[in-house]
Amino acid sequence: MKRILTGDRTTGKLHLGHYVGSLQNRVKLQNEYDTFIILADIQALTTHFEKPELIKESIYDVAMDNLSVGLDPNKITMFLQSKITSIAELTIFYSMVVSVNSLRHNPTIKTEAKQYGYDDLTYGFLGYPVSQAADITFCNADLVPVGEDQIPHLEVARKIVRRINDLYGSSINEPEIMLSSCPRLMGLDGNAKMGKSLNNAIYLSDSEDIVNEKVRQALTDKNRVSIKDKGNPDICVVAKYHQIFNNSEYNNICEMCRSATIGCVACKKQLSKSLNDLLNPFREKRAYYEAHRDLVKEIIEAGSKKANIEGNKTVEMLKKAMSLNI
Ligand code: TRP
Repeated sequence: MKRILTGDRTTGKLHLGHYVGSLQNRVKLQNEYDTFIILADIQALTTHFEKPELIKESIYDVAMDNLSVGLDPNKITMFLQSKITSIAELTIFYSMVVSVNSLRHNPTIKTEAKQYGYDDLTYGFLGYPVSQAADITFCNADLVPVGEDQIPHLEVARKIVRRINDLYGSSINEPEIMLSSCPRLMGLDGNAKMGKSLNNAIYLSDSEDIVNEKVRQALTDKNRVSIKDKGNPDICVVAKYHQIFNNSEYNNICEMCRSATIGCVACKKQLSKSLNDLLNPFREKRAYYEAHRDLVKEIIEAGSKKANIEGNKTVEMLKKAMSLNI
């Protein structure tokens, strides 16, 4: 079985955008690949170092988000980045061969720096792709399922691995990108992206009432003022959501919107129902894990133990190759 590695920074709960873009795919991939899921708490520090409590709570939240959508703790290895010493060691070794310019020009770093308003970057933030190269390669992952924004990081990782193997004759696996085919989920407020910092996210852990309320406030075709006006689903976010979450009814709904035989309120109610139908089984699983937090802790600890065994082998091999021994 080939090995995949993917995961998230522990900077808050995961939302529907994460589900559509990656979690859904993870659930399928776990049956075909040896699946490693990283809870990236060290990388959470790159932007949230002043909020350690939030990171700690998010470790549980992100773990439960993964488990509640159907990742099976008996199949996957879910681990906490800060528990894996080999990731820290590899980050240092890799930092010796990566150029500062290649990091400064990394488009994802640039975009995020702008988003957070950083002008003078911390060493850790700038080096985030190096840490990510380490967290991908410590277990010799073959493939990395990610969205487009992660491509620059994966390119840095591949370059570092080639350089290290070239210099020292080591045999670290050069990870391949497995690009998510799903387009980015837009926000119900019309923003091109759903994001926690954009205040437009529907969380996987949101209650039915909250989902109903968020959908109720969603943007629709602005030109449709009265229920008698004919709508244009092509410019309506709610229609786009029907296409994704209520696909079998999508054409029908568009037709009814165009002919003004369904109003926005009823259309939104149907969407809420589809979303809640999707989320209900996740809520049920989540409630179980919420009531058994010790079990979540055990899953992370067992995964981290296994990850450490893998990582220590990699570091031992590399240290020998680099003559870091006596
Ligand atoms: N950088 C990823 C993000 O912001 C999270 C992440 C950390 C990751 N390490 C990873 C993703 C390794 C894939 C593989 O979403």
